Amino acid sequence: MQAIQMQAFGLDALVLTELPVPKLGAGQVLVNITAFSLNYLDLMVIRGDYNPHLALPHIPGSDAAGVVTAVGKGVSTCKPGDRVTTTFVQQWLSGAVTAEFLASRLGCERPGVFAQYVVLPTYGLVPTPPHLSDQEAATLPIAGLTAWVGLMEHAGLQPGQTVLVQGTGGMSVFALQFAKASGCRVIATSGSDQKLETMKALGADALINYRATPLWEEEVLRLTEGRGADLTLDVAGEHTVNQSMRAVKLGGFVGLVGFLSGLRLEFDLFTAIVGNKTLKGYSVGSRESFAAMNQALTTNGIRPVIDRVFPASQVREAFEYLESGKHLGKVVLTF
Ligand SMILES: NC(=O)c1ccc[n+]([C@@H]2O[C@H](COP(=O)([O-])OP(=O)(O)OC[C@H]3O[C@@H](n4cnc5c(N)ncnc54)[C@H](OP(=O)(O)O)[C@@H]3O)[C@@H](O)[C@H]2O)c1
Repeated sequence: MQAIQMQAFGLDALVLTELPVPKLGAGQVLVNITAFSLNYLDLMVIRGDYNPHLALPHIPGSDAAGVVTAVGKGVSTCKPGDRVTTTFVQQWLSGAVTAEFLASRLGCERPGVFAQYVVLPTYGLVPTPPHLSDQEAATLPIAGLTAWVGLMEHAGLQPGQTVLVQGTGGMSVFALQFAKASGCRVIATSGSDQKLETMKALGADALINYRATPLWEEEVLRLTEGRGADLTLDVAGEHTVNQSMRAVKLGGFVGLVGFLSGLRLEFDLFTAIVGNKTLKGYSVGSRESFAAMNQALTTNGIRPVIDRVFPASQVREAFEYLESGKHLGKVVLTF
């Protein structure tokens, strides 16, 4: 089978190679992966920034979808021909996260899914929503679920609220789609006017270019009659967390999702304390949350936004494209 393999750290050492199809055991499922999507996390793993001690060679990747081709002894919940999507934190089935669960992340602690065939336990897969293609489903495990869990579970999103979505990467575009499907008002930011127009077409009610308006939190306050957004999911970290905290209302919620601009900052305690605001770091979600998200996608006919699809042979070009930040939504590859 074909697989993407890291033979050393760095994009230059990423190769498409031939490997044996993995062996199937009891309780396991052999999945023919047809599509996989890229996350910023993959770049960190590939560069060695995530774990410089990672044993190599390593198959990266956490997000994929495909078709069950064989099932092991004792498997009764799926059969050959079923369409499935991988879960990222394999052992996290429901409830609160634990260190043990987090040690089961595909492509990080465990071999990843950027391969034509993978063997996973039945509980490490969810059925693919019938209205989605494999390419669309492959965008869900990290970006989709992180937006869903942040809005629905951590922030307790309610219809009529105002949600601030930041940038137009995979996670933020899902946040826009979920917030609109929930009857909310969405303020979207981006460094590109062209991307803002696409966000408007996807349902954004108000737009802010954070390059043209560096104090974008003041514009959020203006757009909300001085009150602030109810919640936001912060993707850039160092350069944006204080602004996110000022952009949300008294008692508002800021989900700490990413750190695209860096990891260290001088935190404005006053805004947090006097503003009675919640800053919540979190990572992705459980299989149970994934199933709930898929139900919502199906009920509302929501389709993930794919910016560009590459063949697996162009994996390096695909990562360079992701790194360039030119995309809106998700970058997907196919075997
Ligand atoms: N905690 C978790 O479980 C979790 C899950 C998913 C993602 N993440 C993290 O969240 C971040 C975003 O993930 P993603 O998959 O959506 O990434 P992505 O698709 O690579 O998104 C990149 C986009 O972020 C926007 N951006 C960059 N700098 C920004 C800034 N200073 N202010 C506002 N927007 C900015 C840009 O949008 P414009 O071009 O429109 O400006 C850029 O295109 C990454 O750090 C990722 O590691 C964490």
